Amino acid sequence: MGAGPSGLLLSHLLAAGGVESVVLESRSRAHVAARVRAGILEHSTVELLRAAGLDARLRAEGAEHRGIHLHWPGERHHLDFVDLVGRSVWAYGQTELQKDLDAATAARGQEVHHEVTDVALHGLTGDRPHVTFTDAGGVARRLDADVVVGCDGAFGPGRAAVPADLRTTWERTYPFAWLGIMADVAPSTEELIYAWHPDGFALHSLRSPSVSRFYLQVPVGTDVASWSDDRTWDELAERLGHGHDGWTLTPGPITERSVLPMRSFVQTPMRHGRLFLVGDAAHTVPPTGAKGLNLAVADVGLLAPALVALLRRGEAAQADSYSERALRRVWRCTHFSWWMTSMLHAGDDPFDRQLQLSQLRWVTGSAAGAAGLAENYAGLPLEL
Ligand code: FAD
Ligand code: DHB
Repeated sequence: MGAGPSGLLLSHLLAAGGVESVVLESRSRAHVAARVRAGILEHSTVELLRAAGLDARLRAEGAEHRGIHLHWPGERHHLDFVDLVGRSVWAYGQTELQKDLDAATAARGQEVHHEVTDVALHGLTGDRPHVTFTDAGGVARRLDADVVVGCDGAFGPGRAAVPADLRTTWERTYPFAWLGIMADVAPSTEELIYAWHPDGFALHSLRSPSVSRFYLQVPVGTDVASWSDDRTWDELAERLGHGHDGWTLTPGPITERSVLPMRSFVQTPMRHGRLFLVGDAAHTVPPTGAKGLNLAVADVGLLAPALVALLRRGEAAQADSYSERALRRVWRCTHFSWWMTSMLHAGDDPFDRQLQLSQLRWVTGSAAGAAGLAENYAGLPLEL
């Protein structure tokens, strides 16, 4: 269930391992392809895409980044991940990855049903679960399967199919949101700038040599209409340090804007009988540190070989340990995303602000502090 990045990547890896799958998606292909979301692929994601033969356009059109900049009023520091931990990251939009996955899906004739409704799961604790749904033409259908995988994001039926008395959820909401904008302007930086500012966090990211992506910390419940182009550029310039050491921010036409909530969420276990949960279906991280998409890909990297072993060779050990192994990484990334969020988003408490600035000085001034951030940001191995 789900033809986002985790669903399509999983079906690709299963096909390569000789396991047939059918993908169900509630939205249209065009809708899924156009959703503006993540922008940074960590080292292990890029390695997995390379091993799967899905990295040609990423290598040709993506940008390899050695690290990031951390900025706060009066100071800017570059952390070089390659020097610190020997790994880089790549700027490549989720929309582009989705296009590559769609192309690979079409090329191998993968069965995908878009715009399905009434998806319901049955018999998950037996040997032969089945899924019922209504297809785009209004026809009621039934699929019998060996396993069902919920790659259906935070709002799909996958996570709720684990009985309430067998699942545990953990949640943290944050007292701020992000305003995200896309702009048709060349990035004013080669590598991302994460900025702490008393007015709130700002991030300068990018999508291509002519498209820039920005985020601003805003209050929960912010109406995008309250952020005119002028106000948005003025605030980005102020928070990102326009004028610092001669650095300038170049504004341009804003083509997309939206407000994103910030939330940490984990549901365990990530398996119930013959149902497996992957990616946002089991966990959500706040976006600071760019872990959401990477974590979804990492889950797939563990689950695909486990399902091939189970279904092709009758070996259950990897599938049986999938939830426990995936959750080790999920909690590491949940902590990292919470930590980056906590370090960079200014609130009203003057004591907290001093702690944040002290943390930033340590992360940028100490080899151990810098390596800790770099190791987590550039990506940990699939198995922790
Ligand atoms: P999804 O991409 O959510 O895919 C799930 C799919 O399941 C969807 O296509 C959905 O339509 C489908 N589905 C839902 N219900 C059903 C159903 N009943 N039947 C069939 N299909 C169904 N991460 C970052 O790293 N950086 C970012 O900047 C960032 N920004 C984000 C902005 C937004 C608005 C959101 C929502 C997420 C953002 N993320 C970001 C997180 C990242 O995009 C996700 O972690 C990633 O998309 C997870 O992939 P997934 O395949 O698990 O889930
Ligand atoms: C992007 C989003 C993030 O949350 C992040 O930490 C880095 C980059 C982006 O959309 O480009």
